[in-house]
Amino acid sequence: MCTVPEYYIGLMSGTSLDGVDGVVADFSGTKPQVLANASCSFDADFKAELLALNSPGANELHRAAMAGNTIAIAYAGVVRQLLAQLTARNLAAGRVRAIGAHGQTVRHQPRLNSPSTGDIGYTIQLINAALLAERTGIDVIADLRSRDVAAAGQGAPLVPAFHNAVFGQSHKMVSVLNLGGIANLSVLPGAATLPVLGFDCGPGNALLDAWCQQHTGAAFDAGGDWAAQGHCLPDLLQTLRNEAFFDQTPPKSTGRDLFNVSWLKKKLSNFSSAAPNDVQATLTELTASTCAQSVKRYASESSVLIVCGGGAYNKELLLRLQHALPGLPVQTSDDFGMPAQQVEAAAFAWLARQTIHRQPGNLPSVTGAAGPRILGAIYPA
Ligand SMILES: Nc1ncnc2c1ncn2[C@@H]1O[C@H](COP(=O)(O)OP(=O)(O)OP(=O)(O)O)[C@@H](O)[C@H]1O
Ligand SMILES: [Mg+2]
Repeated sequence: MCTVPEYYIGLMSGTSLDGVDGVVADFSGTKPQVLANASCSFDADFKAELLALNSPGANELHRAAMAGNTIAIAYAGVVRQLLAQLTARNLAAGRVRAIGAHGQTVRHQPRLNSPSTGDIGYTIQLINAALLAERTGIDVIADLRSRDVAAAGQGAPLVPAFHNAVFGQSHKMVSVLNLGGIANLSVLPGAATLPVLGFDCGPGNALLDAWCQQHTGAAFDAGGDWAAQGHCLPDLLQTLRNEAFFDQTPPKSTGRDLFNVSWLKKKLSNFSSAAPNDVQATLTELTASTCAQSVKRYASESSVLIVCGGGAYNKELLLRLQHALPGLPVQTSDDFGMPAQQVEAAAFAWLARQTIHRQPGNLPSVTGAAGPRILGAIYPA
């Protein structure tokens, strides 16, 4: 019997607030395959509004709902591009079974102590999923993190199971580092009997982008060239690394709730005379050294460190990472068949497929949830 492959769309807009990455993926083969990819960037005003919505502010319920509409419309635009690419390749757009839509995280506080709810907190990803279903005519799966949080998990990271499906090797430990706004590590043990591990390491690009924007006007430090002109300041690095999150044991996750511009400002209070490019070099070393520390502690048997996410294009960051991990090859996911900027979007296509097939998407060994759970809410076409 010949079964017709189902395609899934994954749409990701991460903590970097740079915009939306989308893919169409086919999971019918032995390894997931990306058939089309597209992206759109957020304009500066909308990026500023999303950043503002990460903190309490006036009329925020209305503003959050309107931002959710804008995100849905941006996502629908990426879906249109993806479907056009399928058609251009003579692949049937009608085979797209569902869209996995991450939305935009504006709060991530999975564990909060409250007298009425114990330690159940919340995580909020803005998107009007009903509007996305209306505009695309395709089933949408959204709010993929809340069920894991409800089951006492961190709700993040959700990508390690997908990393295992794409990059896992038998009989060899492999680690995957996603350098988005926040950095997260997946440890793939290479044996079906051993658990996959995964957790957030700390800041990825979020602080690098903020500092670069403030001092050069550029949205990010292209290639890490600006950081490469500076020198890491050891005392400042020590001050930045003096943060409890870095030494917490997994499961753990974080976001802009902790690693934001106010956090950086406080840490810089005794370093007001530091040259801006030296601070950028130090922030680059902060990301590299805290990620390397995570690899050394939890993935020391790794045969390779595969880097994905936009930070994979920051050469200075990768040089510092390789320097901190002598003897471990640091390579980008492009070398393993999936371009760095497509991996996280493909993970959300995979998560949508899991939900449609009533399969769990989380890994309790990663998030600390009470058990495997089918994730998300389905908004029918
Ligand atoms: N050429 C480049 N040089 C340096 N940094 C880059 C380059 N291209 C992208 N980046 C960095 O990557 C970031 C975007 O990466 P990405 O989209 O993976 O992060 P994200 O949106 O936070 O996603 P996620 O939350 O899924 O990890 C940019 O904000 C920038 O910091
Ligand atoms: Mg992004």
